[in-house]
Amino acid sequence: YRIAVFASGSGSNFQAIVDQVQKGKLDVRIELLVCDRPKAYVVERAKAAGVPVFTFSPKEYESREAYETIILEELRVRGIDLIVMAGYMRIITSVLVEPYYGRMINIHPSLLPSFPGVRAIEQAVEYGVKQTGVTVHYVDGGLDSGPIIAQRAVEIHEHETVESLTDRIHAAEHVLLPQVIRWLSEDRVSLDGRRVTVRL
Ligand code: GRF
Repeated sequence: YRIAVFASGSGSNFQAIVDQVQKGKLDVRIELLVCDRPKAYVVERAKAAGVPVFTFSPKEYESREAYETIILEELRVRGIDLIVMAGYMRIITSVLVEPYYGRMINIHPSLLPSFPGVRAIEQAVEYGVKQTGVTVHYVDGGLDSGPIIAQRAVEIHEHETVESLTDRIHAAEHVLLPQVIRWLSEDRVSLDGRRVTVRL
């Protein structure tokens, strides 16, 4: 089972996947990291782990569709079964969504449908909710709007800061994302409209 991870930043979720694979707890091959910021730390992590990297600078292309077409070819050549969006900070177009719908997931740091989009952790603190969490969902054409596969709740404490909450959100992500990848790789997830069923 071959996966490609898309990321733009630090890549702690990418690392969590690498760690589970290296420990023998996740039986997948990380065939490619796709990154839109050539200087992002996640690129260093991929090199250290021996994962091939495809980086690109969006401003060098005339449209999203133009660079996604090149990415799609990379994915096809490598026979990628699953795309994992782990902090990839770009809007995806139908060039990727259409061929990979049902085989492309994203991790988002809130309990969707609350707080989609950027700054989800800050939004939850500012709103004053007592509980937030993390969501892994299929990617569709919208913003954090696809069918939900799994969620994990995270309490918001009194006097919580964005920093302290971010640490616990990341810890929850690092458990949930490899777990969902395992379910998918074992073909235990089915999608029916918006309803996702996992056979445990
Ligand atoms: C994560 O919080 C993820 O939910 C969000 O972006 C962040 C990426 O963090 N979409 P990292 O690069 O994996 O450390």
